[in-house]
Parts: sequence; structure tokens; C-alpha cells
Amino acid sequence: MNESSDYKYSDYTQTYNSIMKFNKNKVIPIHQWYPFVEGYSREFIQSIIEELPYKPTHCLDPFSGSGTTAVELQYLGIICTSFEVNPFMHNLSVTKMRTDYTLKSFQKSYNIIKSSLEQPLDNIDSIVPIPEYKSIVEKKGLKKWIFNKDTMNGILDIKYAISKIRDKKYRNLFNIALASILLEVSNVYRNGKCLSYKHRTKNNYKEYNRTAVHDLYISRINNVFLPDIKNIEKYKAINGKIKSNYKYCILGDFREKIQEIEDDSIDLVITSPPYLNSRDYTDTYMIELWMLDYISSYDELKKLRKNTFRSHVQVKWGNLETLDIEELKDCINKLSKFKDIFWNKDLLEMIKGYFLDMDFLFFNLSKKMKKDSLIYFNVANSAYYGIEIKVDKIVAKIAENNGFKIHEIREARKIKPSSQQKEYIPYLLEVVIVMSKM
Ligand SMILES: C[S@@+](CC[C@H](N)C(=O)[O-])C[C@H]1O[C@@H](n2cnc3c(N)ncnc32)[C@H](O)[C@@H]1O
Repeated sequence: MNESSDYKYSDYTQTYNSIMKFNKNKVIPIHQWYPFVEGYSREFIQSIIEELPYKPTHCLDPFSGSGTTAVELQYLGIICTSFEVNPFMHNLSVTKMRTDYTLKSFQKSYNIIKSSLEQPLDNIDSIVPIPEYKSIVEKKGLKKWIFNKDTMNGILDIKYAISKIRDKKYRNLFNIALASILLEVSNVYRNGKCLSYKHRTKNNYKEYNRTAVHDLYISRINNVFLPDIKNIEKYKAINGKIKSNYKYCILGDFREKIQEIEDDSIDLVITSPPYLNSRDYTDTYMIELWMLDYISSYDELKKLRKNTFRSHVQVKWGNLETLDIEELKDCINKLSKFKDIFWNKDLLEMIKGYFLDMDFLFFNLSKKMKKDSLIYFNVANSAYYGIEIKVDKIVAKIAENNGFKIHEIREARKIKPSSQQKEYIPYLLEVVIVMSKM
């Protein structure tokens, strides 16, 4: 155990190293429906429930992402309200939380898809609209594009087939299956905070023609979704109805939605907000957003970005105040010296906005939570221009100022900083802050 200036730091790297990453979920029923890079694993949730000194009745996760917290808690019989601003992630969460699927209806929908894909239409691209996004498909004048023409036709065939399913619940489920193959059949890959083009000569590149897209999709359904639907049915046959958290997963900005929660009603929070790493989820998940019609114009994209946590520079946040916290003021001062060479002139505003959002979150959590109930808050430090922003300490201070007692800061992982920062900062700490409402 290390002692830092104010807070108790505990070394949890052995316990948390692998379970703070989503990777482990990739082979776990239901969690495996979509590989979500920024999530944690279900073991993380289980480990918290095992160590809790009380039995929680109502948890809150203000940042659902792929829904790990609420999905896992429902199988432990615990209600969890969650918020998610991104409509794709919201739908992903809800679809994973639903338990009212039946094998019979699943197979009925599957048969509709299968027979539709057996007779693809010649003019599919004039029946199913291609999203407006500028480089979404191969066309004259573009040097690079996300989907080859034939690949796009394969995707459009699948969209058309899904549209024939009458029950929305199954349309959503089969859309998530489609979402799970989109990146694989595209010419791009997720590269930290952006999407980068794959090199045609490298092994991560494979060309998918129209039927190869269909085949991949059908095999994903048969190998991943079908066994899980069977398992849900089996589970229900043995255990009776499963409590589902899907009705409590709310689409929208936490800053608005948290007001709707009853005061003094939450007795556990497990969450991971966006990190202060300038990653814009509407960018990294833009293929899913556009291809699955969650957004259909740049105006809608702009609106969505405005509602997200201020952890990126895609929106001009205006001139913001700096929270009165020494550690933060010190970082802002040090960083100001690099103002002239900032890669984006709004960097400081993003950092200030990030902690203002944190302050707003903890102010509200202190109203919504019961006395002595616990928060497990997963976050990571950041660095810009060789200056480390100790997000862990600043968040702990913000929480304290809002009436929380910090029990410990658990060191979970040491993350490699970007190549520019490596010279000054060997690693960035990812932590879990454990605190309780006083
Ligand atoms: C780190 S991820 C959460 C991952 C999640 N714990 C999991 O295991 O899948 C943070 C999520 O917060 C969402 N988010 C960002 N701004 C938000 C806001 N203002 N209100 C609600 N959710 C927001 C992002 O879209 C993203 O899905």
C-alpha cells in the first residue's frame, strides 16, 4: 500500500489488471454481442458485489456504454438505472438487457433474414438509402472510403432483410448483430481516438464481397447470438422470470436525466465516465451511428456531440471557469504555457469543462444517494505536453467537496501514454476510487 499526500492508494494491479478491460467479456454470453473497447468486464462488477458490506437494492450507472454494469447486476437480481447519451450504445445496452426473447420468435426472424439474403436485389442501393457521410462508400473523386461498393451492397442487403422483421425487439437484436461485423468488413480500424484506414498489404485487411458479408453475418448469428438466446430460455425455464434492467436504461444526457431520479434512493454507483483523453465516442463509433440510422445528418451529429461529457474538443465549449481545486489550477497554469503550440486551441476549455461536468455529477449524486452508500468510480489520468493531469486526485477532491468520504484510490492498471508523452511520463494510472456518501 502506498501513501500519497492526501489519499490512501492501494495496489490492486494484480486483481484489476485484466478485469478492467472489456476483453474478458468477448467470450461471455450476452456481453459478447458487441466488442466495446472502452468497457470493463463483468468480473469487475461481480468483484464489487462480493466485497460489498451490504446488499444493494438500487444501483446507478450514469454512463452505460455497452451496459456491462446493468446487464451483470440484473442477473444478480439488482435493479440498476443507467443513462447513455449515444443512441447506438443505448440500444446496445437495452438489447443486451432484454430477457423476453424466445427461441421460436428468434428463429422466425432468422428465417426471414436468411431467405431475403438468398435473393439479393440488383438495385439494393436505390432501395435502401446510403448514409450521407462523405467517405462512407467507394465513389469517384475519393481516394479512400470506409466500405467498398460490393461490401456496402452486402450490408444494405442485410439492412433490407432486417427491415422485414415486424417485431422491433428482434429488429434491434439483429441490428446489433449487424453492428458487430461492420468494422470487420470495413477499410478502417479503431486506432485510439480515431478511425484509421487499414493497410491493404497488412494482415488486418481482408476484402469482403457481397456474399462474404452475408456469410459473416449469418455465422455471427449462429455462433454468438443463437446460443445465447437458447441459454436465456434455459435460464428462464430453471429460474423463472429474470429481472430485467432494460426499462431503467434511459437514453439521454446524464446532466438532464439524473434530475429525474428520486432523492435519497440510490445505494450503489458503479461507473466509468469518458476519460479525459479527447476521445469522442461519436467519432470512434460513427460507422455504427450512420450505418444503422441512429443519425442521418451532420446537424444531428453536432447536436449529439453537444450533449456528451466534455472530454473532447469536437465542440466549442466557450470560455469556462476553472474549479477552485489547487491540483487542477496548477495543471491549467502549466499547460497555458504551451498555448501557442496547442494542437487544438480549445484544449484548456475541454479540461475545465471535464471537471465542471464531474462537479455537476457529484453534486447530484450526493442528493440521489443514501447515506453511507458506496461509489466505485473507474477513471484514468491524462497527459498533455508532458504535464500529467491527476484526474484521480482532482475527482477525489471534487467528490469530497460534494459530501463524499474517500476510502481509497485503487491502482488498477498502468496505461501507456501516447508516444509524444512517453518521454516525460512513463505510465498513466487507471484507478478505481472507492468512496461513500457522508
Ligand atoms: C467509458 S464508457 C462506459 C463503459 C461501460 N462501463 C461499459 O462497460 O460498457 C462512457 C460512456 O459514457 C457515455 N456518455 C458520454 N457523455 C454522456 C452524457 N452526457 N450522458 C450519458 N452518457 C454519456 C459515452 O457515450 C460512453 O458510452
